[in-house]
Amino acid sequence: MKETQNQILIIFGASGDLTKRKLIPALYKLYNQKLLPDKFAVLGASRTKLSDDEFRNRVSEFLPDEKDTIEFKKMLFYQAVQNNEDRDFIPLKERLSVLSGELEIPENYIFYLSTPPSLYSLIPQYLHKNGLSRSDKNFRRLIVEKPFGTDLDSAKELNIKLLNFFDEDQIYRIDHYLGKETVQNMLVTRFSNGIFEPLWNHNYIQRVEITSAESLGVEGRGGYYDNSGAMRDMLQNHLMQLVGFVAMEPPVVIEANAIRNEIVKVFQSLRPFEENMIAKNVIRGQYTSSVIKGENVLSYREENGVDPFSRTETFVALKFFIDNWRWAGVPFYIRTGKKLPTRVTEIVIHFKRVPHHLFGSPDTSANNQLIIRIQPDEGILLKFGMKTPGAGFDVQTVNMDFHYSDLTNTTVPAAYERLLLDCMQGDATLYARGDAVIKAWEFVQPLINAWNTNPEIPIYGYPAGTWGPENTDSLIRKGNWRYPCKNLADDGLYCEL
Ligand code: BG6
Repeated sequence: MKETQNQILIIFGASGDLTKRKLIPALYKLYNQKLLPDKFAVLGASRTKLSDDEFRNRVSEFLPDEKDTIEFKKMLFYQAVQNNEDRDFIPLKERLSVLSGELEIPENYIFYLSTPPSLYSLIPQYLHKNGLSRSDKNFRRLIVEKPFGTDLDSAKELNIKLLNFFDEDQIYRIDHYLGKETVQNMLVTRFSNGIFEPLWNHNYIQRVEITSAESLGVEGRGGYYDNSGAMRDMLQNHLMQLVGFVAMEPPVVIEANAIRNEIVKVFQSLRPFEENMIAKNVIRGQYTSSVIKGENVLSYREENGVDPFSRTETFVALKFFIDNWRWAGVPFYIRTGKKLPTRVTEIVIHFKRVPHHLFGSPDTSANNQLIIRIQPDEGILLKFGMKTPGAGFDVQTVNMDFHYSDLTNTTVPAAYERLLLDCMQGDATLYARGDAVIKAWEFVQPLINAWNTNPEIPIYGYPAGTWGPENTDSLIRKGNWRYPCKNLADDGLYCEL
């Protein structure tokens, strides 16, 4: 177990949703497991004027019963901070030194930016001006929430600005997908077993498929989402990180830079899209109105905060290649969308079929798949061929299935729990490095540009509750996407393993 030094966590944007829903509950869980350092405090900071007690009451909504949380809440403090002038940071600095004096906590600070992105470079600048960004004696770290830029240029600009005030090894760019237990388990599955890694290449793998489906829509975030879309909201960050983990070479050690070097190498090998290839290999969709289980469901354009003529994609699917030794010629497919039939994130490794078909035709031979279920029902499933009992040699596909829920006495920690603890311990392994974020933007930016400038690239409608535009199937020539559940808009939910 790594050491967690005594420290203060300062959350900017403390009156916002993320703080209430994710950060404070994650800290409470760490507290309950005795994973917080002996001396620890959280200083919430945002524009709203609140006392410490008012802040404690506000965050209670997402905590268990009052009596269990009394001690935990004593660690929470609050300071109103205007973000538009650096002199507003003087009272913050004073409050921090008072807190650290009274509570006998050394001036080790993590600054968490959970604010609107327009403040991502301003707050670090003011922290720097007030002497809070670096210290000879103590650590200073900065956590930056997504979105990291809204396009390639703004991401580059943000990187440059941050590096004026903090060093790269002080900056923790959060991508909550990397905090998911099953994403980390991908490294263990691949690199701690003798049986998978020898097959993990173009000789044995026919294709790799990554699906991240959500049954929810934009849930009151229409204003934000309409300026973002599935490509920026999910693909550029979360799903590209999954690509990094599934495709990387073995790192030399399990250590932040060793792992992040391998992820960058994967991104460097992504084959860029030629403009004339985009319409065929990248499919975007937007959900239309529908009836699910007898209930009318609004179309995306009817959602609050969404432009009634919006051309923002709520679904994207693409086919691409990684041009390196391991993956030469293996197509990768990604699809993600809102208002799909179910919530599931999984990676499917489709293995090549056997070279000679002793038991029937290629179509009846076993189609081996390794399915890494990121969520829900975290686990791993292997599909392989077995003889159907009785006369003849009929082959049927059967499952070997591991569910994390079968492990007794083990709870899968929430992503923010893991990531906050890592940052407190100074471990950036599961945070995105600046160069990787830029590489991922370089990959997706031409697609966004083509959509913006070429009106001939269609945006397809798909009824809410279905698996996206029908022609998504046209991306995969041999075989089909794996459909873990049938369309909800047809005949109710039916899930298969
Ligand atoms: C967020 C996106 O980053 O990830 C949301 O902004 C999306 O639109 C969410 O719903 C998905 O996260 P998870 O952990 O529920 O898969």
